[in-house]
Amino acid sequence: MNTNNIAKLLIVDDKPENLQALEAIIRHEGRQIFQASSGDQALALLLEHEFAMAILDVQMPDMNGFELAEMMRSTEKTRHIPIVFVSAAGKELNYAFKGYETGAVDFLHKPLDIHAVQSKVNVFVALYQQRNESRRQVLALEISRAQQEALLKDLHFAQEELQRAVRMRDDFMSMVAHELRTPLNTLFLESQLRTLQLDRNNTEFFNEGNLRKMVERDRRQIESMVRLIDDMLDVSRIRSGQLSIRRQPTELSSLLQRVVNDLSAQAVSSGSTIELETIEPVTGMWDQFRIEQMLINLLTNALRYGAQKPVTVSGVVQAGSVHIRVQDRGIGISDENLQRIFAPFERALNSDSSGGLGLGLYITRQLAESHGGFVRVESVVDEGSTFTVVLPLTET
Ligand SMILES: Nc1ncnc2c1ncn2[C@@H]1O[C@H](COP(=O)(O)OP(=O)(O)OP(=O)(O)O)[C@@H](O)[C@H]1O
Ligand SMILES: [Mg+2]
Repeated sequence: MNTNNIAKLLIVDDKPENLQALEAIIRHEGRQIFQASSGDQALALLLEHEFAMAILDVQMPDMNGFELAEMMRSTEKTRHIPIVFVSAAGKELNYAFKGYETGAVDFLHKPLDIHAVQSKVNVFVALYQQRNESRRQVLALEISRAQQEALLKDLHFAQEELQRAVRMRDDFMSMVAHELRTPLNTLFLESQLRTLQLDRNNTEFFNEGNLRKMVERDRRQIESMVRLIDDMLDVSRIRSGQLSIRRQPTELSSLLQRVVNDLSAQAVSSGSTIELETIEPVTGMWDQFRIEQMLINLLTNALRYGAQKPVTVSGVVQAGSVHIRVQDRGIGISDENLQRIFAPFERALNSDSSGGLGLGLYITRQLAESHGGFVRVESVVDEGSTFTVVLPLTET
């Protein structure tokens, strides 16, 4: 039996022996019987419990059964409780009907006929339990409807996400194709040109000076393709949680110097310079290759979006961390764009054709975080941007 569907019955009589006898007759599995020996006691119980029915003795001192019933009818909580009056046959019947037209009322006469008592109580209890059950079902229905609605909402959301992802993948594919095609086209044209010169036996074309230039051009095209593919591999490693950091003692000032030197040619070709502010030697347990990668990403951006103005790099030790700062005085980033530049492929959705796939900052942030650090950016449109990578000196 469901404990929520236990029927509580109230029996009220001033004589204890009557209460005992009545309880013995109506006691049954799934019922809980409460006895009250006066109207006051009954009212107290009525306010505390929810009863399936009440059996009231009509003749009681102080408050008789009818007076108690009248009080029950005047209170919302007890108004609808079915009442069965127990009276000495016939006497009070006229009075009994007064005022009780609403709600279920019935009569039992003394001496009590066990069978009649039981069948009346059975009817009221069954009614009560049915009502409870249907209330429970309505509630369950309501809950499942709400769940269904929430599910539908989730589904709708997932569908939109999926559509967005598919759109993004398509955009991404055409962007990647385009990005790979540019260096490949250049290499293809170069090789055609060389074949032509070879066919003409034009050995002068392959003199040392020209060859060096060719090799340098080839290297640049190949590097840009390798970088693109490496970035894409990093993104898929990050997404599958497989990006690993190989920590080793790494000295920052010489690393900064090396990266700045490596990028000086690129700086010149973008019409800018990179200035490295003096920095004390400082060694941390970091993945050297990954720190270089973060710096290259930030510096490439600073050169690309730096409006040909000088770029400054500095490293400052502060409260157990090192702050690597890359500052440009270029186009800057609007507040609105600051929110999304760290998301992968954000760039890919841009119509702006200068620049790459929009992976650099995403990878940089992930790399900083896998070192236990973070990336911060401050920027003012048309005045420039400062990106700061903060890395803890001790392993976290
Ligand atoms: N220093 C900067 N100044 C102004 N805008 C910047 C700067 N750095 C990044 N951005 C903006 O943030 C976007 C995302 O940068 P991110 O480095 O992730 O991608 P990307 O440079 O476009 O391509 P990728 O790095 O993959 O070659 C850029 O496209 C650019 O709009
Ligand atoms: Mg970039």
